[in-house]
Amino acid sequence: MCGIAGYIGYKQAVPILLEALKKLEYRGYDSAGIAVVHNGALHVRKTQGRLSLLEKRLETERLEGEGGGGALQGSTGIGHTRWATHGAPSDRNSHPHCAGKIAVVHNGIIENYRELKGWLEARGAAFQSDTDTEVAAHLINYYYDYYEEVPAAHPDRLAGAVMAAMKRLNGSYALGVVAEDAPDRIVAARKDSPLIVGLGEGEQFLASDVPALLSRTREVYFLEEGEVAALYHNRVALFTGDGEPVTRRSCRIDWDAAAAEKDGYPHFMLKEIHEQPRALADTLGPGLRFVPDTSLSAIGEWDIDVGDVPLERWKDAPRIVIAACGTAWHAALAAKYAFEGFARVPVEADIASEYRYRDPIFDPRDLFIAISQSGETADTLAAARLAKARGASVLAITNTRGSTLAREADFVLHTRAGPEIAVASTKAFTTQLMAVYLAALKLGYARGALQPSDFRRYVAALRDIPEKARRVIRGNGESGGADRINRIKQYADRYFNKTKVFFMGRQCDYATALESALKLKEICYTHSEAFAAGELKHGPIALLDAETLVVTIATQRRLFDKVASNVQEAAARGAANLVITWEGAGERAFEKIATAVFPIPQTEDRLSPLLSVIPGQMFAYYCAVARGNDPDKPRNLAKSVTVE
Ligand code: G6P
Repeated sequence: MCGIAGYIGYKQAVPILLEALKKLEYRGYDSAGIAVVHNGALHVRKTQGRLSLLEKRLETERLEGEGGGGALQGSTGIGHTRWATHGAPSDRNSHPHCAGKIAVVHNGIIENYRELKGWLEARGAAFQSDTDTEVAAHLINYYYDYYEEVPAAHPDRLAGAVMAAMKRLNGSYALGVVAEDAPDRIVAARKDSPLIVGLGEGEQFLASDVPALLSRTREVYFLEEGEVAALYHNRVALFTGDGEPVTRRSCRIDWDAAAAEKDGYPHFMLKEIHEQPRALADTLGPGLRFVPDTSLSAIGEWDIDVGDVPLERWKDAPRIVIAACGTAWHAALAAKYAFEGFARVPVEADIASEYRYRDPIFDPRDLFIAISQSGETADTLAAARLAKARGASVLAITNTRGSTLAREADFVLHTRAGPEIAVASTKAFTTQLMAVYLAALKLGYARGALQPSDFRRYVAALRDIPEKARRVIRGNGESGGADRINRIKQYADRYFNKTKVFFMGRQCDYATALESALKLKEICYTHSEAFAAGELKHGPIALLDAETLVVTIATQRRLFDKVASNVQEAAARGAANLVITWEGAGERAFEKIATAVFPIPQTEDRLSPLLSVIPGQMFAYYCAVARGNDPDKPRNLAKSVTVE
């Protein structure tokens, strides 16, 4: 969804900007550009295509001494990596966009750009691109030029011009702005798009996301809605959009810088799949507490600790509503089965972009849960704001501390997946599930819907999940691990060229099926669909033929016979059948009717998505590699969608 970066300090800006943009490339990668201020001029380089093309161009310039000789100089600059919204990917639509003395990078959408463009053109502005962003550049330049006429002007001319422009910009934006005659500052502003200021010694940084800052600093300001930041070499000043100074303490980020590196893996996605056992353990760890002598047992017991989230408050909630997008929506669907199963409370799991526009019926006693890895997804934020406006308490499940969702929600359950860089979500999904199961079990116990013995059994099962996830990925021992991975690779090599792949399952296996199908769509560009297995006969079966691969997720033991019938129905139409099921019982139930069975270690049926999704993630990864796709940066997608 576009990544923006900025640097002001005593070092050369270009390498620092490129390093930050590399970390932000997951947000968009159809073009990249930078602008540095040097010797009273803006030096802009921008190119359609991946960041590596821009790097090559800069390197060629450095070697050939083009553009005034040698490397691009300057210690104040901004950079951008783009995911196109307005205007096709091209050199001229790439950011930064310049107008007069001003260069701007932008993440978001300026919704009233047509009207502003007309207004600016009538005042002599000449537009060079098809983007909405360019109006922001011209508007800021207009107020910069006519600074003396700006009402309530801020003493800092550039900040004042940005504030004046903000009053006229509708839509969403994170902006980084430099001026050719102001090498001593960068001005940044945000509305509905994330922006983070990193604090250094004699240098300051700007980025759309934390991983881009980790190698430089851990002290950050998360800009709030409508705020403006002025970054100088030695300090950062924060203001409201009206120019009132804002004082607050910076936040310290505890993510490990190495977590945002590939660490020897060929792709972030594979690394993140392999990180799941640790991420699950990290999310589970703070959620469990050993309590000596509890109501559960006289000797003491593991209890669930959801920190400051007062789940008991919703003991009598008539309903839970969960909204999310993409992978997080699949976690929401799994959550529906979990909360209904464990807490016996009706649950609605809705797609956030639908929820926000359907004038939902809301009881203020309902619990509203928003799930989002980034905490910045525009539709999820809008759904949460709507629920809040209607009197709901909002519980956020997010991976990103300091994100907009985390700050706006009443309560937060943090997943501890660490930075997730690959566009296709893996460890964020399984840790979202872990947070959901902890909350559902806790609420179930508080409501008296779960007997102590069942509660205990499920908690014990959760404690074993990280190790079982490790076995799904690596097998029982070293050679077992290689075997397991080789089997997934074999399936991928055999099936990666299939044009139709269907996933099916019942109950929470349906959520897993949806998520597995999404992985294949996202990174393999394969037409894959997921069906509730019982629904196959109501239409989708017409699509089945010998060219179809059907992947069935079968972990609900009480429904094995039903699912087996569905597998038979698919086999009878010539489709190849792969079944992901429990070791032992599942293998016995399906091995005779499936083309191949992929067994996973047994756990409680209701917790199965935590393990059963992993083979689907690995299958999609190896299919993408076999197709020659870049699994980390699938075409047309962005990791964090901060626009509608
Ligand atoms: C985008 C990404 C998906 C992600 C979804 C929700 O569409 O490509 O992978 O699941 O946004 O993101 P969130 O950060 O809200 O979980």
